[in-house]
Amino acid sequence: MKFRDIFCWLACVVSLGAPASAHSVQEIVNKAPNGLAQTPPMGWNSWNKFACNITEATVRATADAMVASGMRDAGYEYVVIDDCWHGARDADGFITADAQKFPSGIKALADYVHSKRLKFGIYSDAGRLTCGGRPGSQGHEYQDALTYARWGVDYLKYDWCNTGDRNAKEAYALMAHALRQSGRPIVFSMCEWGTAKPWLWAQNVGNLWRTTGDIWDSFAKNDKAHDWAHPVLSIVDQNEPLWQYAGPGHWNDPDMLEVGNGGMTTSEYRSHFSLWAMMAAPLMAGNDIANMDEATRSILLNKDVIAVDQDALGIQGRRVAKDGDKEVWVKPLTGGARAVLLFNRGEQPVRIQATADHVGIPATQRAKVRDLWAHRDMPRWKGSLEAEVEPHGVAIFRVGP
Ligand code: GLA
Repeated sequence: MKFRDIFCWLACVVSLGAPASAHSVQEIVNKAPNGLAQTPPMGWNSWNKFACNITEATVRATADAMVASGMRDAGYEYVVIDDCWHGARDADGFITADAQKFPSGIKALADYVHSKRLKFGIYSDAGRLTCGGRPGSQGHEYQDALTYARWGVDYLKYDWCNTGDRNAKEAYALMAHALRQSGRPIVFSMCEWGTAKPWLWAQNVGNLWRTTGDIWDSFAKNDKAHDWAHPVLSIVDQNEPLWQYAGPGHWNDPDMLEVGNGGMTTSEYRSHFSLWAMMAAPLMAGNDIANMDEATRSILLNKDVIAVDQDALGIQGRRVAKDGDKEVWVKPLTGGARAVLLFNRGEQPVRIQATADHVGIPATQRAKVRDLWAHRDMPRWKGSLEAEVEPHGVAIFRVGP
């Protein structure tokens, strides 16, 4: 046994309590949830825009922009560095930051983010290497959880590359246990792409779990032609049927937002954002928010649509009617209200109607109607909603007291 292995064993057993191997995986899976993420997490993640080119300067500028743009006050909370922040492990096996890209170190960066009244997140992987080829956490779970806690990490995204024949349930339960033992509340974002159907077993393990491969910045086409790249429509169709598995503390994650990254039209981005809100999805902006245009800003800062996503009931909305390209979606909200989405998947403008049966509010019930993109109160509820919807577009309403 090398010194570093002895050290890790000591770290696990002495300072962090017994490692997960002393427990059955089922025991960890059955533990009460960690109480975090009672509404879907909101924030920003570096990957969709910056990929491996992320630096300390960009993260700082992003945190500044989250405050200046009003995003923090609209609910965006976590600033998450995705892959490629890592340097090598030190002689004792502790992870370090890439000194070129993060010269001040991760602790100083976390302190900066916290000084802006934001929270700080980081990324690792259940394999020996991350998807970007940096050191993964396999074999270092307790040591890494301890390091993150010391740095002030509030959120961990945990990926699934280079995991060989690891069992997903065991690997994620192990890191969930290590995070609990670290003593710091850390939101656990599971990123194993839905391969092992985490919605069936991870309710007490993770706070959110990816349900699909990676989002691709396109509405309907996989221009990348890789089977891991999923346009919005494909993600929506994979994530929607899982509605019953989402709830406070444990969310389906259809991946981070592409709003503002240039591959879709403004109305497609509006649809993307509205569908994510209807699905109670985590709202992690994935664009360069320090340099975003007004159209992007007005989508990410639509507080009426954010309120649909963040509703305290935490019920994932779903498709209640489909007629070719015309769809009606409904999400129950607190106080008996409903969010209603009319969605045109097609290439031509169409009229779409939602009935009282679709919405679940009788025509005779007194209810107000608000158009959440026009930000306009509409005539009172009379038992149906109808709108002309542009190609790839949506209309979204709140109906209720
Ligand atoms: C995977 C994940 C992405 C991103 C990259 C980083 O593809 O699904 O969200 O984290 O790895 O390499």
